[in-house]
Amino acid sequence: MSRGGRPADFPALARDRDRLPPVYLDSACMSLVPRPVLRAMEEYYRDYPGCAGRSLHRFSEEVSRRFEGARRAFARYLGRSDPRGIVFLRNATEAIHQVGEGLRWKRGERVLISDREHNSNLILWQRLARERGIRIEVLPLREDGAFDPEELERHLVPSVRLVSLFHTSNLDGRSLPVREITERAHDRGALVLIDGCQAAPHERPELDRIGIDFYALSAHKMLGPSGVGVLAGRPEVLEDLRPLVVGGETVEWSTLTDHALRPAPHRFEAGLQNYAGVLGAHAGLDYLEAVGLDEVRARELRVNRRVSAAFAGDPRVRRWGPEDPQDRPSIFAFSLEGVDPHDAAIFLDEGHGVMVRSGMHCVHSFYAARGLPGNLRASFYLYNGADDADALVRGVRELLERVGDRRISGTSAGTAALPSRRASGRPHAAGSTGVAARSAPPPRRAAPGRAASGAGSG
Ligand SMILES: Cc1ncc(COP(=O)(O)O)c(C=O)c1O
Repeated sequence: MSRGGRPADFPALARDRDRLPPVYLDSACMSLVPRPVLRAMEEYYRDYPGCAGRSLHRFSEEVSRRFEGARRAFARYLGRSDPRGIVFLRNATEAIHQVGEGLRWKRGERVLISDREHNSNLILWQRLARERGIRIEVLPLREDGAFDPEELERHLVPSVRLVSLFHTSNLDGRSLPVREITERAHDRGALVLIDGCQAAPHERPELDRIGIDFYALSAHKMLGPSGVGVLAGRPEVLEDLRPLVVGGETVEWSTLTDHALRPAPHRFEAGLQNYAGVLGAHAGLDYLEAVGLDEVRARELRVNRRVSAAFAGDPRVRRWGPEDPQDRPSIFAFSLEGVDPHDAAIFLDEGHGVMVRSGMHCVHSFYAARGLPGNLRASFYLYNGADDADALVRGVRELLERVGDRRISGTSAGTAALPSRRASGRPHAAGSTGVAARSAPPPRRAAPGRAASGAGSG
């Protein structure tokens, strides 16, 4: 632990915050923030709270310099030699939107996605299909998530303009071979957009070397604050995109009737930026690099191996995705025989301080196609250790023991039935009802009114 990544660097893991020590296993949703990130954000507001690239005074100069420094740091990390390809946006969803909405589509052109994309890389295409006449081509992955190159070749039909796939799945932690996919897509004349949300926190994507055209990520999954995303594009292809939003900072000049856009990246960064957030994201990146990506991978794999081995052969614990943790180092996805996933998540939190994600993980299409109610996901990062693995295993075992043969389903029914050890003394997990509602199967036909809007949110 000498190179950082110690739990003590993460205030959210402070042991006296709650009666139970927090065991945070939800980093695939949002990673924790180390002190240097908090410091960088505070420093901005305290020491140089100016706007970048506008005024000429010292605050403005300082923030401009640091903002562009953050851009260069992300370019280096992602393997993009030209920092003009790094665009700061709000999150990965917005980055994917910038590409989808920004390409000048012709009717009938296709986007190729997989059959288990996050809603961020699905709903947009459905909307563009309705509004602009594009077509969606779906690449089926094998049931365990493995990639089949022959399927890719079959689906790379001439009208595919863009291949848009995840790098690492948020369902089970398995990665796709993005180099091979990019080569095959480029051979057929298609552009490639990779959703790197679950990969970039754990590995360098080497964008130039692989030739990926667009890469999207969110800083809040790699030790940074929420509200910062990156679109890393090849500068040449970025120039062809229509900016999603225009206004201040995006133009060289304007008259009452016309304007000229600035080159990338500035044409995509409209209005005053989230300076504190971007500088915090840069501090997160520095922290990650100081620990070292090999070390990060080794730590999460150790935790994952411990959890996977503890449940191996237990028929009540169904593991999702590949068997070998090496093929899914940051995620252990599972379901428990006869236990509703939300009930299990609440039990683990309230009884053992173990925070995992439950439900459909914003991939409703995957579960809906299989008629499944969702599952549980424990995700690991550099601050997790053997104690965290053991707490999860203890919690799951106690839950299964208590449930015995009783089958539990439905969040409120389940929590009432489960003899939960209410360690924190707080009321039922806030928002659990809403989470459960969002994980409900899709209505056959959306009816107007409350039910429709509730079920449709994601
Ligand atoms: C694979 C994947 N893609 C996209 C997203 C969306 O990221 P954001 O909500 O930060 O835009 C997530 C978030 O969980 C994700 O895991």
